Amino acid sequence: MALQIVKYPDPVLTEMCKEVQNFDTELGKTLDDMFEAMYRAHGVGLAAPQVGILKRFTVIDCSDDNSEQLELVNPVIIEVEGTELSEEGCLSIPGYQANVKRNSWVKVNYFDRKGEEHELEAEGLLSVAIQHEIDHLDGVLFIDKLSRLKRESFKRWFKKKEQ
Ligand code: CO
Repeated sequence: MALQIVKYPDPVLTEMCKEVQNFDTELGKTLDDMFEAMYRAHGVGLAAPQVGILKRFTVIDCSDDNSEQLELVNPVIIEVEGTELSEEGCLSIPGYQANVKRNSWVKVNYFDRKGEEHELEAEGLLSVAIQHEIDHLDGVLFIDKLSRLKRESFKRWFKKKEQ
């Protein structure tokens, strides 16, 4: 069955996720289903809690043609450099975008579905996507990173949308 994307303000999006211990076929199947759900929603990243799973993994693809599949299991950012402001959105908050300050370069340590360890250096959109998705694993949304004023404007936007 196709995965459904959890929307704000579902409390599952504010939970801390647990590390993956078992790199089993179930994990691979879930990652495949998450790629499918992400592409269907035209997103560049989707984290496990966004499909109701409180585990530390996420899928990312910043390419235009679905050719750069990246799956990060138990990812940890181990080095950062610089800061930059860029516009972000989230599949759990469809229709809302805002500028968020992030590190411009990151080095991330992670595992793939087979349990093999990797390191990746990223900048630009990929760096932003990695930071955004790892935040999800800690129950943090990009709107949590906004200034108080911007946050108020988000709340007004959301209230209006819900009417
Ligand atoms: Co998101």
